[in-house]
Amino acid sequence: MKDQQASTARPQIELDKVPAHVAIIMDGNGRWAKQRGLPRVAGHHSGMKNVKKITMAANEIGVKVLTMYAFSTENWKRPKEEVEFLMKLPQEFFPLEIEELIENNVRIRMTGWKDGLPDYTLNAIEGAIERTKNNTGLILNFALNYGGRKEMIAGVQDMIRDVQSGKLQTEELDETRFSSYMLTSDLPDPDLLIRTSGELRLSNFLLWQLAYSELWFTEAYWPEFTESLFLQAIAEYQRRGRRYGGL
Ligand code: IPE
Ligand code: IPE
Ligand code: MG
Repeated sequence: MKDQQASTARPQIELDKVPAHVAIIMDGNGRWAKQRGLPRVAGHHSGMKNVKKITMAANEIGVKVLTMYAFSTENWKRPKEEVEFLMKLPQEFFPLEIEELIENNVRIRMTGWKDGLPDYTLNAIEGAIERTKNNTGLILNFALNYGGRKEMIAGVQDMIRDVQSGKLQTEELDETRFSSYMLTSDLPDPDLLIRTSGELRLSNFLLWQLAYSELWFTEAYWPEFTESLFLQAIAEYQRRGRRYGGL
């Protein structure tokens, strides 16, 4: 990974080779805040402000699906106050940004478990999903209360039920069928995964779906992740050769 942090140049993007689905692990909010002597939640607030900007950049170049990891099934382990702050962000984010998202034909959706989310969180996101359901542009997909292993186990449980009820024959199970039991069954697999903040791991994100995704990491913390860095990730993706095990 060449270091790109200082550059603000706008790289050239080939518009016919734009990844259809980009997934982002928005990491480093807490460290961003700490570096500035602020409480961690100030980093989450600043990170929230960055979501629309990157969504617009993705929309502009023709990305079809942008999946943003907003809260993992493991993030419940954090202090109660921090979890509560994170759960309140959707009711701030959507009223603030929904008009512009609608103007840009963006459709909101969520991947994750509704169980366990406070009503105010769920109402905010469901309201946004409802208001944007007829939009045909970029899908802004929030991974909220999402975990890859939980998703696979839930999928396997559904499959077993379908086998037991005769809806599925064991022999019929293949990769396409397995994908249909994932929460993202209606989405293409991510072509490109971006993770900010210098951490080089998946943290239980889209474990099945990322099998052949290109991975791109940056040291930048999420609140300071820029459109220019986003375009650098896209440009590097476009220079890579995806072989899927072939030649
Ligand atoms: C990412 O930032 C946001 C969430 C996980 C909700 P972090 O809160 O993980 O920030 P760091 O990694 O501690 O700096
Ligand atoms: C992953 O970040 C989850 C989100 C960005 C929502 P974490 O900060 O929770 O991941 P770990 O704990 O560093 O692996
Ligand atoms: Mg983190």
